Amino acid sequence: MQTVELITKKRDGGKFSSEEISWLIENYTHGNIPDYQMAALLMAIYLRGMDERETSDLTLAMARSGEQLRVNTQISPVVDKHSTGGVGDKVTLAVAPLVAACGVAVGKMTGRGLGHTGGTVDKLESVDGFHVELSREDFMRILHDHQIVLAGQSAELAPADGKLYALRDVTGTIESIPLIASSIMSKKLAVGASHLLLDVKFGSGAFMKTIEQARQLAQAMVDIGRAAGLHTVAAITSMEQPLGRAIGNAIELAEAIDILRGNGPADVSELCYHEAAELLLMTGKAANQAEADQMVAQAIQSGAAVKKLTEVIAAQGGNPQQIERPELLPHAPIRVMLTAPQTGYIAAINAEGLGLASMSLAQAASKKVSLLIIVPA
Ligand code: URA
Repeated sequence: MQTVELITKKRDGGKFSSEEISWLIENYTHGNIPDYQMAALLMAIYLRGMDERETSDLTLAMARSGEQLRVNTQISPVVDKHSTGGVGDKVTLAVAPLVAACGVAVGKMTGRGLGHTGGTVDKLESVDGFHVELSREDFMRILHDHQIVLAGQSAELAPADGKLYALRDVTGTIESIPLIASSIMSKKLAVGASHLLLDVKFGSGAFMKTIEQARQLAQAMVDIGRAAGLHTVAAITSMEQPLGRAIGNAIELAEAIDILRGNGPADVSELCYHEAAELLLMTGKAANQAEADQMVAQAIQSGAAVKKLTEVIAAQGGNPQQIERPELLPHAPIRVMLTAPQTGYIAAINAEGLGLASMSLAQAASKKVSLLIIVPA
């Protein structure tokens, strides 16, 4: 098989066979296909799309490109939660410890920022000493001992996605339903949790700009998950404006701590509590919505939720004092207050613009600047 033949096939609107997809992923993972050819292929997929069968084959080939943990064969249930990416989206940072505090194990492999959206791994790394690169043994040990583990993309798990993700980030090929669906679901299948809650974002700050596109992406991922025997549910939620008030690694972690203490901004707190309750319902830990809501409220009020975050931070080498006292997290050295030139009402917020501004600030000041939105009551 020649890579160039497959590039022209997709460029001209053709469909890949299962064997062609396996060949492409295997050879790209092993360095036999150069990035310039894979970039051309990604652009052809971006422009021409993939059907359901091709997307499913691509996902399975990427999941098979490395080790497969199958966490739920050793502990069950193990839940996973994944957002398709947004601006100010610190939901995973709050939902994972909240659910674990309610007695359901959370095994999560999480990503870095992509395009204008932030990544959970980058936010967690605001804590001194916290490490996300875990061996298979460490992943399983921490999950077993603490019922929660928050690992980054490892070289062993879905390595094809690691390479493709980085290439898509710099080749204008992020916003493609088959590429997003296969990227997310290959990691989920490689970890092998028993239950998955997907938070599919739409709107200005999301990759999917319309609710219809988000619905298509959600359906593609739910179909892949269910076909693979993974209990998968998707929530479609708005990213028309940033979630909460903080955009930036350390200040988003601080806001997640506020949410776990019951003091977070109303919009993002409500979303986190709702998603945590959904996971309790999905796994049967709660019998009905009222019981799930009650368990979540109890974990917040008792302090168990924030304690669980502190516990996993310490288990992964981080400084737990920075969770107990978030003022110890890194601060931007320069703070500037931008005030509106006149009194008025905010009719809309350009979430993508704020995400891009936050990225530029971080690049300009070696990641020591972040954006905090303060809207007077
Ligand atoms: N998150 C992922 O893991 N992959 C994508 O392509 C987009 C969001």
